[in-house]
Amino acid sequence: MTDITIALSKGRIFEDTAPLLKAAGIVALDDPESSRKLILSTNRANVRLIIVRASDVPTYVQYGAADLGIAGKDVLQEHGGAGLYQPLDLNIARCRMMVAVPNGFDYDSAVRQGARLRIATKYVQTAREHFATKGVHVDLIKLYGSMELAPLVGLADAIVDLVSSGNTLKANNLVAVEEIMQISSRLIVNQAALKLKQDAIQPVLDAFSAAVKK
Ligand code: PRP
Repeated sequence: MTDITIALSKGRIFEDTAPLLKAAGIVALDDPESSRKLILSTNRANVRLIIVRASDVPTYVQYGAADLGIAGKDVLQEHGGAGLYQPLDLNIARCRMMVAVPNGFDYDSAVRQGARLRIATKYVQTAREHFATKGVHVDLIKLYGSMELAPLVGLADAIVDLVSSGNTLKANNLVAVEEIMQISSRLIVNQAALKLKQDAIQPVLDAFSAAVKK
């Protein structure tokens, strides 16, 4: 039987993906959090899961170290998607990528006046494209987390980050002023693997597709 490897990240994506995997007849034999294992066997001898950083999922699939992966649109947009087939929006881990500023900062006026804005974000490529399309001049500062802190300590005027409940913005006295895109997790497939291992991959794609909440 053809072996397949599926890359995904711990936390919300793993939890939200488990029911979809189950619908495809795949159940992990270990919990990634408690076991700390990075390669998880499943009930199916030919299917294994690998646990990687969310932002690394497209890389593992691009190079064929994983045949399939589950990654947020935020991560895929930033990666560029080379070598990846993206057949399915799984409609999980939904949130929005937003521009946010400190309460009281008049973002619209600053933009209208052509001010040069300092923007802190993990999503440098996506932010660059967004502001270029809008004709807004920005200096981008790459961060790896806790973006909400940047405007509070004078590192940036604004941030580009994911907003789900809005609680993190609120707790840090920030407000969202612009939506960049709606985010959800997608199934991604290595294009070569799809051709070479179609017998094993296609049933997984079909089962995911049938199980996705429209
Ligand atoms: C994400 C995001 C925000 C927060 C938004 O961070 O970067 O900080 O969640 O969620 P909320 O609107 O429900 O408050 P996450 O906790 O995933 O950690 P990260 O900074 O490592 O991305």
